[in-house]
Amino acid sequence: MRYNRLAKYLLLAGLMFFVVSVFLKIGYYFEPKIDRHTPIDEELYKVVSPSTYKYILNQPSACEHNPYLVLMVPVAPGDAASREAVRNTWGQRDLVPNLKIIKLFFVGVLEGEEGEKSETAIAEENLNHGDIVMMDFLDSYRNLTVKTMMMMNWIAINCQSASYAMKIDADIFLNIYYLINFLPFPATNNYITGSVINDGMPRRAENSKWYLSKDIYPDSTFPPYVSGAAYVFSTDLAAKISLVSRFVRPIPLEDVYVGLCLKILGVRPVYGRGMFWLRNLFEVRHLNYNRCTFAKLIIITDFSPTELLKIWPDFQKNHTC
Ligand SMILES: *[C@@H]1O[C@H](CO)[C@@H](O)[C@H](O)[C@H]1NC(C)=O
Repeated sequence: MRYNRLAKYLLLAGLMFFVVSVFLKIGYYFEPKIDRHTPIDEELYKVVSPSTYKYILNQPSACEHNPYLVLMVPVAPGDAASREAVRNTWGQRDLVPNLKIIKLFFVGVLEGEEGEKSETAIAEENLNHGDIVMMDFLDSYRNLTVKTMMMMNWIAINCQSASYAMKIDADIFLNIYYLINFLPFPATNNYITGSVINDGMPRRAENSKWYLSKDIYPDSTFPPYVSGAAYVFSTDLAAKISLVSRFVRPIPLEDVYVGLCLKILGVRPVYGRGMFWLRNLFEVRHLNYNRCTFAKLIIITDFSPTELLKIWPDFQKNHTC
C-alpha cells in the first residue's frame, strides 16, 4: 500500500518535472504592442541610433555564405591578446563539421593619441584576419549599450540569413559543441536564451559600478533579462530590438537595456537549462578547468587569454565526459 502511494508521488513528480521543463524551454511570446509606446526624446535616441555613428572598419560580406551562427565579440580596441585567444580557441573556423559559424569583433574608438595608435594597429590586425567591425563611438564601459545596439543593427543589416547570433565577451570559455546541440533546430523566431535574471533591480548607491539615478530609470525593478556575459538569439530579434530602441531610454547597463526592449516586444528570455536536472548551462562565474564539468556547460566566465589558450587543446581533443 505504502509503495503504491510512493509510486504515485514519483509519477506525479516526474510529470510536473516534464511540464516545467517544456515550459522553460519554450517560454511564451506575445505580439508586440508598439503603438502603445511613446518614442523617447530625439536627442536621447541619437545615443543609440545607428545613424549617429560611422564605420571605420566593416565586414559587410561576412555572411554571404549564410552562416548558421554568428559570434559577436565586443572587445576593447587595445585588447589584441583577447582577440588572438578567441581566434585560436572557440572562435576558430570549422570546429563543428558541416556547420558554418563565423565570429566578428566589435570595437569603438579611443580618444587622442592613444586612439590614433590603436586605429592603425587594428587596421593592420584586420588586414590579417578580416574579422573586426569598428565604429566611431567612444569605447568605454558606460558605452557598452551603444556597442550592443550597433551589433544588433549590424546583424539586422548584414546577416538576417543566419539562424542565430550570440553576443559573447572575450574572457569566456565557450563550449561551442554543446551550444550547437542545445539550440532549437530549425531556429524559431523571437528566441533569446542565456542566464536569465528575473529579480534584477537598479542600484541607487552613487558609488556602485551599476549605479542608475531615478531620473534615468524611475522603476524599482528590471524586467527579465539575460546576463550580458553571453546570450544567444534568433537573428529576427536583432531588427526588432533595434526598432523598439526608439521607445527605450538608453541606460548604461547593456543587458538590462536589451531586457527593456524585449519587454516591449513581448518576448520572454528563455533560461538556458539542461534537459536533466534543469542545470543552468550559462555559468556566470569562474570554475577551474575540468573536462568533464566543462563538457556539460555552455559558458564559464572570467578567463584570461593565457588560460583559454592553455585549456582549449585538451577540450577540443575530447569534449565529452
Ligand atoms: C559614448 O560615445 C559617444 C560618442 O563617441 C561619446 O560622445 C560619449 O561621451 C560616450 N559616453 C561615455 C559615457 O563614454
